[in-house]
Amino acid sequence: MFRSDLLAGKVILVTGGGTGLGKSMALRFAELGAKLVLVSRRLEHLEPAAAEIRARGAECHVATADVRRYEEVEAAVRSAVERFSRLDALVNNAAGNFLCPTEDLSPNGFASVVGIVLQGTFHATLAAGKQMIAQGTGGSILSIIATYTETGSAFVVPSACAKAGVLAMMKSLAVEWAKYKIRANAIAPGPFPTEGAWSRLAPPGFDMSDRTKRIPARRFGEHAELANLAAYLLADESGYVTGADVIIDGGESLMAGQFNELTTYDPQLVGQVLRAMKPEKKT
Ligand code: COA
Repeated sequence: MFRSDLLAGKVILVTGGGTGLGKSMALRFAELGAKLVLVSRRLEHLEPAAAEIRARGAECHVATADVRRYEEVEAAVRSAVERFSRLDALVNNAAGNFLCPTEDLSPNGFASVVGIVLQGTFHATLAAGKQMIAQGTGGSILSIIATYTETGSAFVVPSACAKAGVLAMMKSLAVEWAKYKIRANAIAPGPFPTEGAWSRLAPPGFDMSDRTKRIPARRFGEHAELANLAAYLLADESGYVTGADVIIDGGESLMAGQFNELTTYDPQLVGQVLRAMKPEKKT
């Protein structure tokens, strides 16, 4: 899809880069010539991912930090700059989420998710942004959000509030930091299977494959599809794209369209019924 040197020489920091979609994106950036910085709370997540990246011939630095603590994130950015002398891009991928009836949610449960997603994204954005501004060479910030920033979603109120806030942050900074040639974009993925998300967001006994029925593409996303979109948004070739919220969900979020539900039934039957509704032409 891309030239193999699309991201050559770029230093890209990925929060939550040791597992799941963060790792898939990091591996793709490495294939495209980037130097990676992986940040996560746990070294046992970081080391195996870094080994995979290095096996692809790319350089990789790891740093442990809890994105809820600004000083830890700042130290991670500092260590990345000590290693690679610069930072060109940040991917805000670290997240926290769980399903919970809102009436059962404790204030601390709300604060915990908002602390990781909204404040954590701010911490990483601030630390990385300051470095990019000091360098004077511009940069790119990409945040992974969710399609429910616009609609909200039952049972994930803290995440919906936090992700909506992250989108507002990206749009605000797209304008404010344009003078530093820093771009800020968001990707809103639909369902992309990962061990972490599936174990938290699929209720036991709930058949997740059923969910594909309400996705026009009739399937879940593939990690490579998200990783390629992220690579495009970090590449210099997308330099005019900023403040965007790019949805990648096989059309799932459009299913509110009033008659879209009809596409989930047998197409032959629906065709027959709709044709039968057409009035006869009067001669
Ligand atoms: N339902 C209701 N409340 C929950 C909950 C659940 N499933 N899981 C956690 N909480 C509440 C806890 O009860 C606690 O509140 P309390 O002190 O009032 O009891 C609060 O959330 C914090 O929980 P704790 O486990 O101490 O937080 P943590 O900081 O260790 O973990 C989480 C943060 C809860 C977001 C945890 O799921 C996590 O670390 N997630 C990271 C990975 C992730 O979620 N990735 C996203 C994949 S989509």
